[in-house]
Amino acid sequence: MPWPSHVAQQEGFLALDHTPHIELAGGDERVHAALDRFMRNLSVRTGVPFDRNFPGTPDGPRLVIRCASSGLRVQKLEEDESYHLAVAQTGIELAAPNPLGIMHGLETLLQLVQAGPRGWVVPYVQIDDVPRFAWRGLMIDVSRHFMPLDALRRNIDGMAAVKLNVLHLHLSDDEGFRVESKLCPKLTQLASDGLFYTQAQMRELIAYARDRGIRVVPEFDVPGHAVSWLVAYPQLASGPAPHGLVRSQRDDLRPPLDPTQEATYKLLDKVFGEMEALFPDAYFHIGGDEVNGKYWDNDANIQAWMHAHNIKDDHALQTYFTQRVQKIVQKHGKQMEGWDEILDGNLPKDSLIQSWRGAQSLADAAKAGYKTVLSAGYYLDLMYPASQHYAVDPMTGPSATLSAEEKSRIIGGEAAQWTEYVTPEILDNRLWPRLGAIAERLWSPESVTDVSSMYSRLAVLSRNLKWLNLQHIEGSRKMLGRIEDDDMPPALLETLATTVEPVKEYNREKTQVYDVEAPLNHLADAIPPESDEARQVNALALRAVHDPSVRQELRTWFTKWRENDAQLEPYLATSMLRQPLVPLSKNLSALGTLGLAALDAIESGQPVTAEKRKEQLAEVDANASYNAEMLIAVVPAVRALVEAEPASR
Ligand code: ACM
Repeated sequence: MPWPSHVAQQEGFLALDHTPHIELAGGDERVHAALDRFMRNLSVRTGVPFDRNFPGTPDGPRLVIRCASSGLRVQKLEEDESYHLAVAQTGIELAAPNPLGIMHGLETLLQLVQAGPRGWVVPYVQIDDVPRFAWRGLMIDVSRHFMPLDALRRNIDGMAAVKLNVLHLHLSDDEGFRVESKLCPKLTQLASDGLFYTQAQMRELIAYARDRGIRVVPEFDVPGHAVSWLVAYPQLASGPAPHGLVRSQRDDLRPPLDPTQEATYKLLDKVFGEMEALFPDAYFHIGGDEVNGKYWDNDANIQAWMHAHNIKDDHALQTYFTQRVQKIVQKHGKQMEGWDEILDGNLPKDSLIQSWRGAQSLADAAKAGYKTVLSAGYYLDLMYPASQHYAVDPMTGPSATLSAEEKSRIIGGEAAQWTEYVTPEILDNRLWPRLGAIAERLWSPESVTDVSSMYSRLAVLSRNLKWLNLQHIEGSRKMLGRIEDDDMPPALLETLATTVEPVKEYNREKTQVYDVEAPLNHLADAIPPESDEARQVNALALRAVHDPSVRQELRTWFTKWRENDAQLEPYLATSMLRQPLVPLSKNLSALGTLGLAALDAIESGQPVTAEKRKEQLAEVDANASYNAEMLIAVVPAVRALVEAEPASR
């Protein structure tokens, strides 16, 4: 995962029990680093010591790597990432025009390694692989919750494993300014709570990412989401200056920058100039999203300025601002990227539009002549299942009717991880249960759409990512352990935990407002976004309607749910982390009872009156309510069975 563009598998396996003879030609220092990393990862994965310094036996297999060029010092969008990988009796051959292809090919090779009856092996295979899209990104919001470097590094390793190539860091927002400015140190002194990356750390992180074929694109969100700037420079606020950094969803004072003051552009020129030198990538993201115009409407000076300059409304004022900022970005040698609100800005055509409010803006941007990437549909903070993200294709929907030339401007997509409810402890468990599916959508051919194949490969990926030290499984386990503490049998909580999911979309903020200082240590934080068990049980229930052979398995599940509450309940009252689970556990038990009754009705063939069915469905609904920021994800199974009960005439 992602599935290659061309694969031909052959009968047989190459034994890989010790370090092969390595021949390496061409490339640059990244190819050597990638090979060393491959050996290390292979050793960790297999428990066998692989090392370039251990020469293999003379008649052992060979690993031949040929890289035709050294690639660019600053990785570019346009570079060739293709590779050819052949595994045969004589050994392994990996060839690529560019170091990026070698890195991708080694990741593929690592995924192919498996335990055979007589040792570790790689299947004979011929792969010719090339990405469908050049921009395959992940945005991480490090402003709402700061993400320490080790969390970023391990997730960069994960990105490389699934061939993602852009890490977009959302570095400033109302909650904090997260990278050191030497020219304007007040930004981090006053507006970061001490949580920020030094420039030296950022340089190291960029080098780490580059070594793995990943570009780092910085975002400094202006003119909205800019309270951190204004904590340091209050005189640049539109309307009253903010009281301080935003700490909670309830803080309603979030003025944008004042676009009518020259001092605003002087500051941006200074800081963006510094940051454009720090971040080598060709693109520089200026945000531009969700500007709240009421601050402009209510500021007499801004209104007077707009009148004097014949700027008719807030939209036109943002356009003016974006055009000024674009010139600053360009002056320092970069291409500007922004969220899709900047689309109407009559910008130079080398600007890049990130579509987030819906796929229409992707098509609109391409039509208007801009390069564009899709993030609508790839928002990981909305807690959708992997299948839903997997179904989102940049080239379908409104883009489908574009001309070939317009389509060529759609250069990829980007998953987005906003972190209002995500701490470093939670991050991996929000990303990895689904990110592989998005990575595949952006790399693999459009025809690769089989959802059950995706899920089975995603499960393998998920297990193997632990060898890269990703914490999605282990972190979740630890957090569940915190809730269980030392006084309860783990299986009881697990029965509940595996049937629930965090609420979707923006529903969490309705019951638990976002607060920087609120602990995120609840069951909703510990569980993955998607329940694998629920997906299985829901599919099983649909089958059970027609297939009696799977009904016994369903009965086992339903009985387990029904019985669990009585055993779990005594433990719930004794801990504040468990008390909120009381209604959820009761509801699960009731759903088990309802599921068993529905199976009885189906098996007995006893007709059920419309009245009775309505009652049962109402009962299903009553037990499906959100509790403790979670929903019971197995409700569809029970509902499907109630609906399948034989009807009386
Ligand atoms: C965004 O989600 N406000 C870009």
